Amino acid sequence: MATKKIAVLPGDGIGPEIIAEAVKVLDCLRDAYGFQAEMETAPVGGAGYDAYGKPLPDETLKIAQASDAVLLGAVGGPKYDTLDRPLRPEQGLLGLRKALELFANLRPALLYPQLVSASTLKPEVVSGLDLMIVRELTGGIYFGQPRGVRTLPDGEKEGFNTLVYRESEIRRIGIVAFETARKRSKRVCSVDKANVLECTELWRQVMIEVARDYPDVQLSHMYVDNAAMQLVRAPKQFDVMVTENMFGDILSDCAAMLTGSIGMLPSASLNEAQKGMYEPIHGSAPDIAGRGIANPLATILSVAMMLRYSLGAPELAERIEQAVSRTLDDGLRTGDIFVEGCKKVGTAQMGDAVVGHLRAMAK
Ligand code: NAD
Ligand code: IPM
Ligand code: MN
Repeated sequence: MATKKIAVLPGDGIGPEIIAEAVKVLDCLRDAYGFQAEMETAPVGGAGYDAYGKPLPDETLKIAQASDAVLLGAVGGPKYDTLDRPLRPEQGLLGLRKALELFANLRPALLYPQLVSASTLKPEVVSGLDLMIVRELTGGIYFGQPRGVRTLPDGEKEGFNTLVYRESEIRRIGIVAFETARKRSKRVCSVDKANVLECTELWRQVMIEVARDYPDVQLSHMYVDNAAMQLVRAPKQFDVMVTENMFGDILSDCAAMLTGSIGMLPSASLNEAQKGMYEPIHGSAPDIAGRGIANPLATILSVAMMLRYSLGAPELAERIEQAVSRTLDDGLRTGDIFVEGCKKVGTAQMGDAVVGHLRAMAK
């Protein structure tokens, strides 16, 4: 297999801490499994601003464009919240998604059986949970124009954003959802607000059109408010959920809690050519940054997704997932998934334990 190029963008807050553990996993794949990868690290978000005065430095974008896959930690922090909007860390992330045309965001909410008691929901509600949120990532209200804050003639300020989708943007994310469902339980639930918003009424119509090409997949529709409620009431009714950018942002944080913690949920953001950026769905967690206690598993599981979707090494992805499962079998838990009777560990100990199992499995 040719050497793969991976752009590593740690970002801010807990970003560098969790990325260090993911890099240990990649190093182990090289040493113990002969997986050839070249990693290049670059600043993004607040780190990009500190180094080069902008959240997505030109050099970082070039490195990301020239790589086979991008691994990102997290961006953002209170220190940067008062900067002009174009200079804020989040713009670095949004800029990467847009520049690389990563329109399809896959966020799998899978509950490891060992973590049933770590969820805030009852065991019978969450055990066996395995759902996939397919979030549209380069359109919708996040990117729609016009947007801004203006002063009205009477002197009062008004803020505005635009929810806008072209049919083609809806169709391509719909196709991703149906293709994904075909490899799973063959059910797609499209989440919208068609009872109020015209744009998502179009979303619903296009989903119905796409469904005609997938007679083997069952399509249902749900309003987003009900979907949020159903996710905590009876999440196992869902297989694949497909939805608008902002709805997907919100619903995926909600789904994360079903898996025990937001520190468990990885993601893949893909373009038409399966090139992807891989990151945990959580943020830079400023409240725990620098203390070595963040859960690195969502980031390590994002490496698994990277191997599966962009680097053509699904067998290595499975090894990583198995190593994570064995680490949980050992009773190791970071604070966010800790329950009585387990062993509380920090970020590095958790990463080392996963690497230990990976190495052992290679023998
Ligand atoms: P957050 O996801 O950073 O944190 C929410 C809560 O979850 C916090 O209590 C945090 O400690 C906890 N948490 C998150 N990840 C964890 C982990 N791996 N292990 C243990 N606990 C974890 O969300 P927030 O506080 O709303 O946002 C903080 C900053 O992150 C903001 O600047 C925001 O814009 C940014 N953000 C970035 C991304 C990203 O880079 N993809 C995603 C979300 C938020
Ligand atoms: C996420 C984050 C980002 C988003 C922010 C940081 C721009 O919340 O990846 O879920 O809203 O998409
Ligand atoms: Mn989010």
